[in-house]
Amino acid sequence: MNIDPLLAPSLLSADFLRLADELAFLKSSGADVVHVDVMDGHFVPNITIGIPVVEALKRETQLTLDCHLMISEPLKYAVDFVKAGADWVSIHQEADPHLHRTVYAIKNVGGRAGVALNPSTPIESLSDILGDLDFVLLMSVNPGFGGQSFIENTYNKLRCLDKIRQKNDHSFFIQIDGGVSVANAQALVEAGADCLVAGNAVFKAPNPTEAVKKIKAQMTKVCKS
Ligand code: DX5
Ligand code: ZN
Repeated sequence: MNIDPLLAPSLLSADFLRLADELAFLKSSGADVVHVDVMDGHFVPNITIGIPVVEALKRETQLTLDCHLMISEPLKYAVDFVKAGADWVSIHQEADPHLHRTVYAIKNVGGRAGVALNPSTPIESLSDILGDLDFVLLMSVNPGFGGQSFIENTYNKLRCLDKIRQKNDHSFFIQIDGGVSVANAQALVEAGADCLVAGNAVFKAPNPTEAVKKIKAQMTKVCKS
């Protein structure tokens, strides 16, 4: 792809009592996108935040809101997330036998639709829907928690997906989520990633503003053709 790579800090690692301050910090530090992890305690073993919080975030920020739905039956809620202010919505392949229907439900109300794959889910499972997607999210940890270690096989999946994209002239962008840090940001962009999600590496850093700048510096070192 020929877009500048984007950094999407994940609010999962932010201070939930100070979300307005965290949004202001993201804006001033140069982050591109706000990643919102929605977990239902069913598809993943954790419960986080929902639609009312997304509405509140939308009132406070102009940054792109990226809602990663780690929920069962995403069709029930995906459109409501767009209506609440989500610009991008990703749903999990493993959670939805009707991906095409849900993807178009999101697009039809003006959202950009992505499908997320768990580390153990093959890319081939998306072969008949890649042309319909705005983005693909490759999980580089098992979804449910921040602060986990990056799974190295993600590089193979990423390179493979990037090749498929080039070969078929697809326009989706590729997002990587989990265990992203200053140490792997450059290599991930080199391997084909367009958007990196980072939770702990930003919000738990000693100096979060410096962390955003360092990760972005690594990402933009890569000159894409
Ligand atoms: C995990 C979430 C991630 C998480 C990433 O299920 O989807 O977005 O916040 O956190 P880090 O960057 O700490 O691995
Ligand atoms: Zn996420």
